[in-house]
Amino acid sequence: MQHRDLIAIPDFTTAELHRLLDLAESMRTGSYDRKPLAGKSLAMIFMKASTRTRVSFEVGTWQLGGHALFLSPRDVQLGRGEPIADTARVLSSYVDGIMIRTFSHSEVEELASFAGVPVINGLTDLLHPCQVLADLLTVRQHLGGWEGKRIAWIGDGNNMANSWLNAAFRLGFELRLACPEGYDPDPEILARARAVAPVTVYRDPAEAMDGAHVVNTDVWTSMGQEEEQVQREKAFAGYQVTPSLMDRAAHDAIFLHCLPAHRGEEVAAEVIDGPQSRVWDEAENRLHVQKAIMAVLMGGEKLT
Ligand code: CP
Ligand code: NVA
Repeated sequence: MQHRDLIAIPDFTTAELHRLLDLAESMRTGSYDRKPLAGKSLAMIFMKASTRTRVSFEVGTWQLGGHALFLSPRDVQLGRGEPIADTARVLSSYVDGIMIRTFSHSEVEELASFAGVPVINGLTDLLHPCQVLADLLTVRQHLGGWEGKRIAWIGDGNNMANSWLNAAFRLGFELRLACPEGYDPDPEILARARAVAPVTVYRDPAEAMDGAHVVNTDVWTSMGQEEEQVQREKAFAGYQVTPSLMDRAAHDAIFLHCLPAHRGEEVAAEVIDGPQSRVWDEAENRLHVQKAIMAVLMGGEKLT
């Protein structure tokens, strides 16, 4: 059967992304009351830890009438070396969708190429599309949209930064990134976004922050990079989002962080716990956006 996946934000057209976020907004406000996943199941493969992704996908599936299975490498044969391709084929005969969080992005692509059901990327070393879609919903909720807005990314050119670039590629907003040398985003993803949207990479966080309406950061050491912690702390010194750095942004700028956060490292407690922070709405929006994604990919909701 023909199906679609969500591996990266550009898997959806600009118009489809707008409609997906309209659908997520109807879920956020409570006006959506259908159960498109009735009788359906989602397999959730987690090769890395998760709080938000795991709970929001599981609860979201249930709210849409379906059922979710949490599969960790301790429990499934994938953790003992069963090939991804075999796992994909077998799971596809039981479930109606597969969400996967893992290390290598190519594993998600391989899973999708062998699965007969939709595959949703729940984070790889390269991308975190569900999170940035939730961030876009949060921007829309608090600023009315991203049209004419300046978005700043301060810190690592990681999976989150790459997904923001993918969002700029499709939606065309201004994105200013400040990354230390050696920690730039993926060069191909950066070049593709730069070709169509006002995207700039700075070394000085203050420059990237100037007049920003949305300020984003993320951990300096992502999952799987724990051995680089000390080296990264040195490289990212000066990249903490502090109250004085926030002063460079627009006076009504909002602060976003995908969480989990390390207060005193990438962000000062006064910022993440302060009046400009929207991180709790951002975390909540994971639920609404992922319900919209599942309703479309697995539940027959249309984006036309
Ligand atoms: N932001 C995010 O993906 O959080 P978890 O790692 O808790 O899922
Ligand atoms: N960049 C972080 C995001 C966590 C949600 C990581 O990959 O660990």
